[in-house]
Amino acid sequence: MTASPRTVNVGGQHPYTITIGPGLLNDGAALAAQVRGRHVLLVSDSIVAPRYAAAVRESLHAARPDLRIGTYVLPAGEQSKTLANFGAAIDALATLGATRDACIFALGGGVVGDLAGFAAACWMRGVDCVQLPTTLLSMVDSSVGGKTAVDIPQGKNLVGAFHPPRAVFADTDTLRTLPPRELRAGLAEVIKYGAIRDAAFFDWLTAQRQALLAGEPAALAEAIARSCEHKAEIVERDPLERGERALLNLGHTFGHAIETEQGYGGTGNDNLNHGEAVAVGLVLAARLSADLGIASAQDTNRIAALLQAFELPTEIPPGLAPQQLLARMRLDKKNLAGRLRLVLWRGVGHAEVVPDVDEARVLAVLSG
Ligand code: NAD
Ligand code: GLY
Repeated sequence: MTASPRTVNVGGQHPYTITIGPGLLNDGAALAAQVRGRHVLLVSDSIVAPRYAAAVRESLHAARPDLRIGTYVLPAGEQSKTLANFGAAIDALATLGATRDACIFALGGGVVGDLAGFAAACWMRGVDCVQLPTTLLSMVDSSVGGKTAVDIPQGKNLVGAFHPPRAVFADTDTLRTLPPRELRAGLAEVIKYGAIRDAAFFDWLTAQRQALLAGEPAALAEAIARSCEHKAEIVERDPLERGERALLNLGHTFGHAIETEQGYGGTGNDNLNHGEAVAVGLVLAARLSADLGIASAQDTNRIAALLQAFELPTEIPPGLAPQQLLARMRLDKKNLAGRLRLVLWRGVGHAEVVPDVDEARVLAVLSG
């Protein structure tokens, strides 16, 4: 028996629906219903496109034979989330002759979603973008909320725009081909929601560890839906991160610094992907909170233990200089007036933004 899709609605000024379930990439009627004009650009990467792009094209064509569908495929990996590839996506839109009613379909993980979303935000000052996330991480986080961006050598996601998607279709069948390491990376962002605002979800994740690591569809669908509900609730109240949305960045200032220092994935053995860097960042944020006296060391141990149970890293990889990491953290988008502004916590389920954090305390944590 095939599970029926679940939906999460994101309200606010630009409402849309997140649909979660198996077989969604084959639902041509639902996908085509999002296209207002005649032009579609399918953006994907070199690992995802060979597996799933034909299905999307065929579904769309079957439902709307009049559509002109172009394709832009970038090399897989974080190192592709560049201004140069953003420019190539824009070139593809121009070649297609895409008009203002065009629709970009972002088929892939967060790298594809962020870059395609940014191209959609910029082409003719904004066209529709439908997110078709294929990693757990993109299903629970990056496809929702309209943050779009590319990386530059100086820092992650420093060039981008807020541009909410027109719709999100998370086809859970695609998770069957996701490498286990990428599944675990997505689980780091799932754990983040429990850490920020839902202690009961944190406990549920502890109990569901085996099922989630084994990729059991029912457990994954539940984790995705609950994560999306959390994200929807926050982004509909604060779409432009003027306030509480910053909480979604627990662990990210540390994580982004690690990713930037390592050259965005690169080829080194110790190089972390985004979810892994966030896992380390969650522990560092917990440690700093304990050092500042706003949380207990016991809570640091709880999150470190849960992340380790999900086979995620919890320590800064060797070879990264604390001073260099701190320098990267100074370019974080949350900082104000040249002062570090970090998301920390009071314990499991209670994150908060702490302005004006003393750099010496951060350096001490980075130095272990
Ligand atoms: P990713 O897009 O690099 O995907 C990870 C790897 O999995 C890639 O090699 C990809 O080709 C492969 N892959 C994707 N789907 C697959 C599938 N179904 N089967 C087999 N292989 C598959 O990385 P990610 O973890 O999805 O996303 C990380 C990015 O998301 C980072 O750039 C991060 O900054 C961004 N992000 C953005 C937001 C946001 O709000 N916009 C939130 C969180 C993360
Ligand atoms: N991933 C953090 C946010 O969307 O705000």
